[in-house]
This record gives sequence, C-alpha cells and structure tokens, in this order.
Amino acid sequence: MAEVILRTENLKKAYATKSGKPHEAVKGITMDVKKGEIFGFLGPNGAGKSTTINMLTTQLISTSGDIYIDGESLVDNPAKARQKIGVVAQHNNLDRGLTARENLIYHAMYFGIDKDVANKRADDLLEKFGLTDRQHDYVKTYSGGMAQRLKIARAIMHEPEIIFLDEPTTGLDPAYREILWNQMLELNKEGTTIFLTTHYMEEPEQLCDRVAIVDKGEMQAIGTVDELKAMMPTNNIVYLRLKDMKEAYTEQAKELPGIDDVTIQDGVLQLYTSEKHPDLNAILNWVNELGTTLEDIRLSQVSLNDVFIYLTEDKKEMKGAE
Ligand SMILES: Nc1ncnc2c1ncn2[C@@H]1O[C@H](COP(=O)(O)OP(=O)(O)O)[C@@H](O)[C@H]1O
Ligand SMILES: [Mg+2]
Repeated sequence: MAEVILRTENLKKAYATKSGKPHEAVKGITMDVKKGEIFGFLGPNGAGKSTTINMLTTQLISTSGDIYIDGESLVDNPAKARQKIGVVAQHNNLDRGLTARENLIYHAMYFGIDKDVANKRADDLLEKFGLTDRQHDYVKTYSGGMAQRLKIARAIMHEPEIIFLDEPTTGLDPAYREILWNQMLELNKEGTTIFLTTHYMEEPEQLCDRVAIVDKGEMQAIGTVDELKAMMPTNNIVYLRLKDMKEAYTEQAKELPGIDDVTIQDGVLQLYTSEKHPDLNAILNWVNELGTTLEDIRLSQVSLNDVFIYLTEDKKEMKGAE
C-alpha cells in the first residue's frame, strides 16, 4: 500500500457567531492522501473546503480532530508540519513591496535554508516559471498570471512533500488554467503530492488520481473518479428540459421503459438508465401526452458533476422522508 502523506481523523471546525450558536463549517472529516497523488477536494461554495485546507496548512486551528503530516501530528507540532507543506493561497499574498527574487529568498530564510542553497533554488525556480527576466522587478508591477506563477514558485522553495492549493483555477481564463495544470502535473511527476480544492467538477475528472466530495462540511464520497461514478445507479443520463416543469413528472418518468431513477436539478429532469441507447421515442411520446413543450433533450454518460448532484439529491430525499 502506498504511504500516507496526510491523514485527518474526525476533523471539525465550528466558528463562533454573534448569535452564540457556533457555526459548524466542517463536521468530522476523515481521509487519507497518499504520497505522490493528485488529490482533489471538491464541493460547492460554502462546503467547507477553505476551512479544511486552512486547518491542514496550520492557518486555522481546528475545534477537534487530528491531522497527521507524514505520520506526525500537525496539531502537536505545527512548525515541523510547515516544513513539509507548501501553500498556495487563493488571494495574492506575495509581498508586493519586494522583488520576485526577494520574495523567494525571504521565504527560504524563514525556513532556515542556507543562503547559497536558497540562491541556487531561486535561480532554478525563476527560470522554470519564466520569471528570470523580471526577477528584480517589484511584485506590485506583476500581472495576475505572473503573480500566480511566483506564488507557486515560493510555495515550493523549501521543497515541501505536499503542496496545497485553494481554488487555484478560479477566475483564470482557460488558457492560463491549462498552463497551471501543466505546472501541477510537472511538479507531481517530480514526486510532490498535490492537494487542491475546487468547485469546478470537470477539471478533476481528467487530472486527479482521487477525489473527495464534500458538502455542508461533510464527506459525501472519496475515491477515484471511476469509483465515484460506479456509485451511480446507471452509466447514462437523459436530460430533459420541459416548458412547464412539475415535480410530479419525476414519479411518472420512473415508469418509462429502461429508466431506473429520476431526479430534478435546476428545473431539468435527469433520467438515469443503464441502456446506452435508451428508447428516446418512448420519452418523447410521454412528453407529448403531458401536453407540454420539449425545450431540450440530451443523452450523455455520467460525469463527476452528476455524481455530486446524485449524492446531494439523495440526502435531500432522505431528509424529506424523515
Ligand atoms: N471566519 C468565519 N467565520 C464564520 N463562518 C465562516 C468563516 N469562514 C467561513 N465560514 C462559513 O463556513 C462555511 C464554509 O466556508 P468555506 O470553508 O469558506 O467554504 P468553501 O471554501 O467550500 O466555499 C460557510 O458557511 C461559511 O459562511
Ligand atoms: Mg473556499
């Protein structure tokens, strides 16, 4: 079995609120991240991703639970954990009044790295991230893309075992997203474990070795993308947008030939089927009988986003049944 670089056990965070009733943002997350993997921590806004990553990177103190970095308690010894982790925050937290090179060197000094080693490493990283020509310019003159590259370079100055990125691609245009992903993949090839959060469901599908799906502070599922997809009742979904959507259609659609389950999401009916070529005529006839207008029909294989919707829909149904 692969070695574990990060483990959390029943990790919780409750924020104090004005009302006096604490807000439970993270409700007991237990997970393992293996050495050398690209691990995606997925969930919608407000799921508790930043709260979790901030605890994992010693920026926020947990309410309870344990965090182990390379087998050692981060809670007991945050300074030691910090040597093994690199952090790329979502916002620009570079020192804007320093040059790019100074940002890297000061970071290395904080970690007690020998000056010659730090200089050599700064040379390498500035080159690698295409910043050599601009290394003596103040960071305040940097474009967003350059600053993002420098943030990553700084995060790996002390050669961490694992690098954490909170929503690294949010707000980036597609071309730059691809560049960033290539940088991640290259770092990972060199042996660095990557832990990233994202609310985009499409990216991890191709790039992450394993993903965790969180919602409302709770772990919904963890595994490879294929394992998660296998949690779905079927492999295919027919998406149906009707002019006058009614909740009652959900139950009716379950009676259609070959349809195993039906949910409704953002006003779109989702008909789950294990048939690669479901009987679309039967579906169209049913829509005709309803006397409503078909606005859109689409057939596709399940995606990670569907898994997420299914898992969270499921819970709503369970709650409704209580
Ligand atoms: N400092 C804070 N004080 C109180 N509540 C917070 C604080 N930070 C986040 N929250 C709340 O905790 C929940 C999780 O937030 P967050 O971890 O930022 O989620 P995500 O990163 O997945 O969008 C949200 O309901 C959010 O409003
Ligand atoms: Mg966040």
